[in-house]
Amino acid sequence: MNHAPPPATATERRATSHAPSPPARPPLLQVEGLSKEYPVNSPWFGRRGVFTAVGGVSFSLAKGETLGLVGESGSGKSTVARCLMQLERPTGGRVLLEGQDLAQLGQSELRPLRRVMQIIFQDPYSALNPRMTAGRFVADPIIIHEGRQPRQALEQRVEALFAKVGLDNSHIHRYPHEFSGGQRQRICIARALALSPRLIVADEPITALDVSIQAQIINLLQQLQDEQGLSYLFISHDLGMVRHICHRVAVMLRGMIVETGSVEDIFNDPRHLYTQALLSATLEADPALERSKKRTFYSPTPAGRLTAGYMREVSPGHFVREEL
Ligand SMILES: Nc1ncnc2c1ncn2[C@@H]1O[C@H](COP(=O)(O)OP(=O)(O)O)[C@@H](O)[C@H]1O
Ligand SMILES: [Mg+2]
Repeated sequence: MNHAPPPATATERRATSHAPSPPARPPLLQVEGLSKEYPVNSPWFGRRGVFTAVGGVSFSLAKGETLGLVGESGSGKSTVARCLMQLERPTGGRVLLEGQDLAQLGQSELRPLRRVMQIIFQDPYSALNPRMTAGRFVADPIIIHEGRQPRQALEQRVEALFAKVGLDNSHIHRYPHEFSGGQRQRICIARALALSPRLIVADEPITALDVSIQAQIINLLQQLQDEQGLSYLFISHDLGMVRHICHRVAVMLRGMIVETGSVEDIFNDPRHLYTQALLSATLEADPALERSKKRTFYSPTPAGRLTAGYMREVSPGHFVREEL
């Protein structure tokens, strides 16, 4: 009798170049036609208008999967993140978390779902509260969602969370200014983990850190995924890192996704001119390769947003935006 091999960890799945796609069960997160418009006053005519920061973004995220969201600054990545978390209400579309449409829920109905989905930001220092010890900061969501706890039980949970992110007990009673950047991001990750979420939205989580520390935080995120089956929406403009840790990638331009597919699709067979330009702008480690590389540029209509289009499937799971 054949025994099925043990399930591969997320790291092993990433290591195989043709990793099988995640199993076909309902996705943890499904985003359909998400859009966010901001009211603006036109300086020219004093007229009220709207600025479409995100214009109809759709993607899904399975359990244990990491989706990379890449694109130039201002393309709408953080707006997508804030709308997913309902920190800002989308102006259109649906955000289905485990099948429930978050946009339809009121603040009190959202509360239990906030446990499922957490966010970490680029700048851990501004996320921390300067007047709260690290331990209190990590315990805060537990107290908010579960009420006051017996002191000892709470301390044990906080200690376990600190251990999980590689900080020791002596750090618990210190204040944010006493930590390094990498340690501060670890504290933010510990807080995000406090309620055992299934999905973490990581908005440029390593951008503000020293290069040597970046790898440590990435390793920590991968280790947590392997242990707990976490899903990540990993927002970054570091394409090398995205290639290293993501299963699938979505490329954003001017508020829209212009290409999405597996890491292999995007990095080995980019189809959209913008994806090609983005890849050609990353530095190769090999100087000879870097010198011989051909750069491509992509400039859609100058200031305008993209016009109507649709996503064409060029190979299974690999979609490219075509303008109408
Ligand atoms: N509150 C806001 N009001 C008006 N415009 C905004 C607001 N927040 C973001 N924007 C605009 O939306 C666009 C997308 O921003 P953002 O989501 O932060 O991009 P990214 O994270 O990809 O750099 C930018 O042009 C930004 O100026
Ligand atoms: Mg951003």
